[in-house]
Amino acid sequence: MTPISGCGHRQWFSQPGLINCSGVVRSPKFSRRQPSALLLANIGQLLTLRLASGKPGPRRDSDLKALGIIAHGAVLCLGGKIVSVGTTKEALRDPWLKKNRKRIIEIDCAGKVVLPGFVDSHTHPVFVSPRLVDFEKRIEGASYEQIAAAGGGIRSSLEGVRNAGKKLLADKVLDALRDMAAHGTTTVEAKSGYGLTIESEMKSLEAIAEAARRWPGTVVPTLLGAHVVPAEFQGRSQKYVETVCTEMIPQAAKRKLAQFVDVFCDKVAFSPEQTVQIFEAATQYGLKVRAHMGQLSETAVASFLRFDPASLDHMDHVNESDVVLLAKHNTVVTFVPGANYFLGLRDFAPARKMIDAGVPVALATDYNPGTSPTINMAMAMSLACTHMKMSPAESIAAATINGAWALRLADRKGSIEAGKDADLAVFDVDDYREIPYWFGGNRCSTTVLGGVIYQGSSR
Ligand code: NIG
Ligand code: FE
Repeated sequence: MTPISGCGHRQWFSQPGLINCSGVVRSPKFSRRQPSALLLANIGQLLTLRLASGKPGPRRDSDLKALGIIAHGAVLCLGGKIVSVGTTKEALRDPWLKKNRKRIIEIDCAGKVVLPGFVDSHTHPVFVSPRLVDFEKRIEGASYEQIAAAGGGIRSSLEGVRNAGKKLLADKVLDALRDMAAHGTTTVEAKSGYGLTIESEMKSLEAIAEAARRWPGTVVPTLLGAHVVPAEFQGRSQKYVETVCTEMIPQAAKRKLAQFVDVFCDKVAFSPEQTVQIFEAATQYGLKVRAHMGQLSETAVASFLRFDPASLDHMDHVNESDVVLLAKHNTVVTFVPGANYFLGLRDFAPARKMIDAGVPVALATDYNPGTSPTINMAMAMSLACTHMKMSPAESIAAATINGAWALRLADRKGSIEAGKDADLAVFDVDDYREIPYWFGGNRCSTTVLGGVIYQGSSR
């Protein structure tokens, strides 16, 4: 028996043998790296997130808490895809499995919880340094807007990215992706947005692509050239919007460096009219859209819905009629309570009101150096439970299947069903409610990303 987990030790492997969730591998052979046959068995609670009614679209209303739990479950994966899901008893009776048992990697989940890998649908991983001065100023009482006006905030992260080489940025992104995998995340949306010149935005997207090539999970790149107006365009924001529309978007689209275009639509960043202009350019170049909306102030959403945004994120401030409107659309509202927590805000987004009205909601970390320096989805879920009154079950669906909807990837991600990608997280708990309950730590013991196993501790 070879112990493989321990402080600081990380190991990817995909060879036949038996892996036990306490971190012990039997007969490991580390010769092949291709995803092969993988069986997770003896799962205490298997949260499939399969909806028995088969109702299409993002989960809303009471469907948001339907976790499709199988007790004593098992999942068989082949070539990076899930091929069957059921009980361990059924799996062990399967003739194909009996015949091929020796060629299969088995993970004995020892009665623990398995769920779809988290889909973190909102992150900003391309930055160089933490913003410690902002952190201290805020503790002393300055607001996000005051810090930004005094030269801190997003603009203070630009220099580091503009001066950095692509390799350094890719390494930073990869570090974050690895840490995310260690915490159960298998799909990540990653935005540019701390360069804000044509060259440094393209460099940021290239760094995301480079890191994605070195990580077995799935990365969805987003151009966030419209994060804030950089100092050199101060007082000429319209000129900057033109640069985003006529240079950044066409280049990102042509070079296939982004799937989405995001805009920070708020009083300190871009107006609703400018957001529409940027959405029009994105649509023209075949890119899908999403936006930061309602973080600091309320913005009416009606004019954006014709672009079918995959997601509107933050939404701390929203009016009653927009809640009714959003309940009729498939645009997901993504909450990022890590930002409220880290900014020391008393108020969080009105999740209960939106869920009860039928709005489809997701949860994400918003990993970034200014407002939410965490990669931990379970922490975001915990905050959603304690501060937004989402139930543990709702927080799980919001962090998995609705995150997948927020990236328009629900046909491949977010639930454990035959045909979907083999993206799974094993948590060392007996009951799924413990995932948001044990806040701030990491109970994820094994993550499977596209059939590739990651087991080990995070930093
Ligand atoms: O989602 N609001 C805009 N963007 C980030 C903050 C970025 C920063 O402060 O660096 C957010 O909170
Ligand atoms: Fe953000």
